[in-house]
Amino acid sequence: MKIIAITGSYRKGGVTDRAVDEILAAAEACGAQVSRVRLMEAQIGFCTNCRNCTQHQGVNRGACSIADDMDRILDEIEEADGLVLASPVNFGSVTAVMKRFLERLVCYAFWPWGRRIPKVRNRQRDKHALLVVTSAAPAFLVRMQAGSTGMLKQAANLLGAKTASILAIGCSATREKPVLSARTSAKARALGAKLATSAPAGPA
Ligand SMILES: Cc1cc2nc3c(=O)[nH]c(=O)nc-3n(C[C@H](O)[C@H](O)[C@H](O)COP(=O)(O)O)c2cc1C
Repeated sequence: MKIIAITGSYRKGGVTDRAVDEILAAAEACGAQVSRVRLMEAQIGFCTNCRNCTQHQGVNRGACSIADDMDRILDEIEEADGLVLASPVNFGSVTAVMKRFLERLVCYAFWPWGRRIPKVRNRQRDKHALLVVTSAAPAFLVRMQAGSTGMLKQAANLLGAKTASILAIGCSATREKPVLSARTSAKARALGAKLATSAPAGPA
């Protein structure tokens, strides 16, 4: 069982990072092989809307014209059995680095010139996703607004993952050096263990 986490926080050791630490530690304790990609440390360019990657038919992702870390990251995600997508809420949305990553997932759509809207290439959802959002606002507000969770869900969907759980950590912006409460840590660990022990997702 392989679990990969993609994180869109701008800082190491922040709330998002700490939550992902707990999730991955719990998954590892259940026997999973875990890895993490901090998008801030990866070289990822902006989608240029050349749409070369969307032209050919088929279930596999289209080839992107940009030579950067994206291919390697997407290969790793495709090999994984479980996915964690994590981002702080910034101005009501995911962070810009997470959004940049999300836009590059257009390679999972078939959208030739002449066609009005894109079509997801592969409707198979063979892995589970755990979404993590952290915010200054209380967690229930973030869940109600659904901007950030909606975007992460969309990313999970394109990456062939069914959203199994959402961990929303609110009221997280009061301390310069954040600490997770015992309750939040326990929740994160429980969800990490659940992700590592759940059966592969079925068809969409
Ligand atoms: C530029 C900026 C914009 C933010 N916008 C929001 C927001 O719209 N809503 C919210 O609840 N929190 C907002 N926050 C707070 C962050 O979501 C919160 O501090 C988060 O836990 C940071 O994650 P990190 O510890 O991984 O850096 C914002 C923080 C920054 C720096």
